[in-house]
Amino acid sequence: MRRGIAIVGASIAIGAALVVSRTETPSRPEITTPATSASIAKGEYLARVGQCEGCHTARGGERYAGGRGIVTPFGTVYATNLTPDPDTGLGRWTRTDFRRALHEGRSKDGHALTPAFPYTNFTRITSDDAAALYDYLQSLPPVARKNRPHALRFPYDRPWMIAAWRALNFTPGEFVPDTSRSASLNRGAYLVHGLGHCDACHAQRNAMGAVVSGTSLAGGTMPGLGWYAPSLRDSHEGSVAHWKPEDVASLLATGIAPGASVAGPMAEVVRRGTQHYSTDDLRAVVEYLQSVPQVRDSSTPPPAIDPKDPVFVRGQKLYADHCADCHGQDGEGAGAAAPALAGNRVVTMASATNAIRAVLMGGFAPVTDGNPRPFGMPPFGQVLGDADAAALMTYVRNAWGNAAPEVSALAINRERGAAVEE
Ligand code: HEC
Ligand code: HEC
Ligand code: HEC
Repeated sequence: MRRGIAIVGASIAIGAALVVSRTETPSRPEITTPATSASIAKGEYLARVGQCEGCHTARGGERYAGGRGIVTPFGTVYATNLTPDPDTGLGRWTRTDFRRALHEGRSKDGHALTPAFPYTNFTRITSDDAAALYDYLQSLPPVARKNRPHALRFPYDRPWMIAAWRALNFTPGEFVPDTSRSASLNRGAYLVHGLGHCDACHAQRNAMGAVVSGTSLAGGTMPGLGWYAPSLRDSHEGSVAHWKPEDVASLLATGIAPGASVAGPMAEVVRRGTQHYSTDDLRAVVEYLQSVPQVRDSSTPPPAIDPKDPVFVRGQKLYADHCADCHGQDGEGAGAAAPALAGNRVVTMASATNAIRAVLMGGFAPVTDGNPRPFGMPPFGQVLGDADAAALMTYVRNAWGNAAPEVSALAINRERGAAVEE
């Protein structure tokens, strides 16, 4: 298997080398406009929209000094120091170097960066926005912190592998506005597909970890972490096309909306990113998300479970013992204190992963200005064995009018060993 990959990889690399030499960047004149306080402020805002700080700050480390590990199926990639330290950060970088990193995914010395840095999205960032981001980062206090080498497995640690990946999966692009649509819809599309990099998670990935074409926003399992980022084109998953616009805005600005609350990696997206959107940008993103073409529902509902089925009965008892106090006898929820589980898409989605994780690991909606003290869901991983947790999940997925495939003890066990972010 490994060898197979290496051989395929090697032959791709030969092709890649040819392609790479053809797309060498022509040298451009350096832009020399000095930073202004307005461009620094704009850059600070855009850095929030792009959630640069989250990836580029190690847990407990100094802001933007790098060192956080991004878990991928190919190993761990460490985000770099973006502070203006001359030796370990971007102190010697020009605006052109910086723009090239976002637009082409190349470092100052020309080496190709790994796509754990979402330059497949950031390539759409305009040069004005890139300049503002540069001005902001250069205004930060420099922190001397050497970049940590990536811990990628062979052959993914080889430069020819990254070259091959890029040859197959990446072409630098621009955001091309659709002139038949409003300025606001175009702004929404720019934020969602560019700086906001929503489809870095909400899309399917192939075996090489590249977005499968045509699946943008159609949902997918997050590489490395295994959370399922639901389809934003399907009303049974994460689509918000049929919601009231103000509820979508509330979800992105506060992390909660009637009958929904974000969790896991999406809670971080809201906390670091979307809660800081300006009113206009929030409106643009909501408008765009509601305009995304929807898939037609062609799924057949699973066969109903007999309420006398011993698994169902066991789940019902466990629910009454452990969950009903918060989520209600009939899964009706308790306002902001606990979401309804009846009719909840996280519970009924084909993929049970996120619901299982909520129960095993517990969780919080993000702390946001609009919801400063979110209620927490306690972890039940220690309380419930695999068979009990499976019966409980099967019950909540099929009680109160919910209908979804059963959950096996094996599926529970798999989630116990799930990758945890560093
Ligand atoms: C999902 C995590 C993630 C996000 C979000 C992210 N980065 Fe990064 N970035 C990385 C990783 C990982 C690398 C290292 C890639 C490598 O070394 O191959 C990186 C590398 C870079 C580099 C190249 C640095 C160098 O020394 O070569 C720049 C510049 C950069 N990021 C800027 C940004 C900016 C600006 C933003 C926000 C608009 C941002 N990043 C958001 C993960 C991220
Ligand atoms: C780092 C990965 C990641 C990124 C980036 C990301 N999402 Fe998510 N998103 C998730 C995951 C995982 C879930 C499922 C967990 C949950 O329901 O909160 C989710 C859920 C959602 C939901 C459904 C919430 C619900 O309760 O029904 C919406 C809507 C959404 N994301 C929108 C967005 C938008 C808009 C962006 C870009 C600004 C974005 N996401 C970026 C991972 C991500
Ligand atoms: C102390 C109150 C409390 C108890 C007890 C509790 N929950 Fe929760 N539950 C919550 C809260 C609050 C959330 C929202 C957390 C978040 O947004 O991350 C939640 C979220 C969830 C979710 C994810 C729903 C979503 O929309 O993201 C599921 C599934 C869930 N609980 C199932 C259960 C089950 C099954 C039990 C019993 C084993 C249980 N809960 C016990 C308070 C509770």
